[in-house]
Amino acid sequence: METVFVSGTLPGDALDVLREAPFEVVQHEGGVASDAFAACADRVRGLVALLTDRIDDALLARAPRLAIVANVAVGVDNIDLAACAARNVVVTNTPDVLTEATADLAFGLLIDAARRISEGDRLVRAGGWQRWTPTFHLGAPVHGMKLGLVGFGRIGKAMARRARGFGMHVGYTQRRREPEALERALGATYVASLDELCATSDAISLHLPLTPESRHLFDAARLARMRPGSILVNTARGPIVDEAALAHALEHGPLAAAGLDVFEHEPKVHPELLARENCVLAPHIGSADRPTREAMSSLAAANVIRMLQGQPPLTPIRPA
Ligand code: DGY
Repeated sequence: METVFVSGTLPGDALDVLREAPFEVVQHEGGVASDAFAACADRVRGLVALLTDRIDDALLARAPRLAIVANVAVGVDNIDLAACAARNVVVTNTPDVLTEATADLAFGLLIDAARRISEGDRLVRAGGWQRWTPTFHLGAPVHGMKLGLVGFGRIGKAMARRARGFGMHVGYTQRRREPEALERALGATYVASLDELCATSDAISLHLPLTPESRHLFDAARLARMRPGSILVNTARGPIVDEAALAHALEHGPLAAAGLDVFEHEPKVHPELLARENCVLAPHIGSADRPTREAMSSLAAANVIRMLQGQPPLTPIRPA
């Protein structure tokens, strides 16, 4: 019987489906760093991995029979794709099923950061609310704002659809311009230069993968080019933003606020960001509504089952 290692607890029936395949399923919260993985590494054929698992060549060398790494995430920056390709290990991810949930969370962070909802919640709980006054706890308007989307894939487009309902003006940047008909349908304008998008947007929301090119794309210099009083939302990957530089931009300008779901060294958060009232912090929950996480788990399981039963997986990553 083929052995499948599952890195942690999955919601829904994905584990049962794997067991019924039938596979020997070894599951451990400690992921690929656990003794449980070490004990079965030499026979494991399928790996259902989490984004907290580092899949590199050293790990692959310990698992010579491995045929597939099925990441329960759309991002695959935890996986050395070249090493997998060199060893003929197929990598899959979970696109589509998490698009709407992630856009929901990004939009929530945007509204929270602009209207200072979490900050207000802390204030009320601390007994700091004295009375209503016209100048109390003012924030930025959400409706009608200029929203800049960095990356215009599935989640970026889902943001644009939400933005229409709020009467926002949407600009997007990515290497390739989308067809005009699609831009019209989504009410989005292409801005070729990232710096121009930053300088002209009331809020920037990041929807791009972490790659060597996007690491610290938002460093001190780029943050300094953002519009005074603007907002940065990151639900993509933490290392796209230099957290120390972000904390500085939140304290000294030009940023008014930020909404972050991802961090450079999760689960650690830069102490200066923890100290900033104008920074909304979420614990990497972009895809964390129950049906979405169940769908991600089922898709990862289906990819493993198909691969080990000789069928092409549903959502393979093609090495660049
Ligand atoms: C992903 O899928 O890459 C998210 O970060 C977790 O849902």
